[in-house]
Amino acid sequence: MDFLPLHSHLELARFYWKIVLQPGDWAIDATCGNGKDTLQLGKFSLGGIIGLDKQQIAIENTSTLLKKYLPEDQCKKIHLFCTSHMHFPALAYKYPIRLIIYNLGYLPGSNKKITTITEDTLKSLTSALELIMPGGLITICCYPGHVEGAKEQIFLVQKAQELPSAQYIICHHTWLNKHASASLLLIQKKNSY
Ligand SMILES: C[S@@+](CC[C@H](N)C(=O)[O-])C[C@H]1O[C@@H](n2cnc3c(N)ncnc32)[C@H](O)[C@@H]1O
Repeated sequence: MDFLPLHSHLELARFYWKIVLQPGDWAIDATCGNGKDTLQLGKFSLGGIIGLDKQQIAIENTSTLLKKYLPEDQCKKIHLFCTSHMHFPALAYKYPIRLIIYNLGYLPGSNKKITTITEDTLKSLTSALELIMPGGLITICCYPGHVEGAKEQIFLVQKAQELPSAQYIICHHTWLNKHASASLLLIQKKNSY
């Protein structure tokens, strides 16, 4: 076995989702894309999942993937919205949210010019920090290999560093010997907050 069994930021993110999620919880996928992450969330016995993407094609791809791999009763618990994560839908404020995930960048297999935008992601993170329940977790997969992604990572890390340590536990996981490799930002709201 390799020394570090979890080789990628995505594997690592999923490892943390598994630790934090409990049956009946609600979670948000703020960037559904082709639905692979939403599908992973759909495999937990959650109370509900809210999936967002600003592109209609991403919502359609996600819906198709979920219908292919999840039973109908699980699919019914997943609420997809074609909207920006800058404003979470009203449904997100009706339930305690244990997990909010972001997988930044562009939709794989689609227009690479349509990416997440630093200013929008920062706004969304501000709302996510309010929305997440005590003990809840925000995971953000960053891709500094393209110009907007590099900027986005710098500003997100800066914002995270400014958050009070009395209220949030924060970790930025990077692969130091890989140039511009993807990274994982983890933000947990402390239980006592
Ligand atoms: C890297 S992809 C996500 C991959 C996805 N999680 C998966 O498993 O297939 C990033 C997605 O973020 C979406 N996106 C970009 N800006 C957004 C915004 N402001 N609100 C919601 N989605 C956004 C893009 O349309 C794209 O589909």
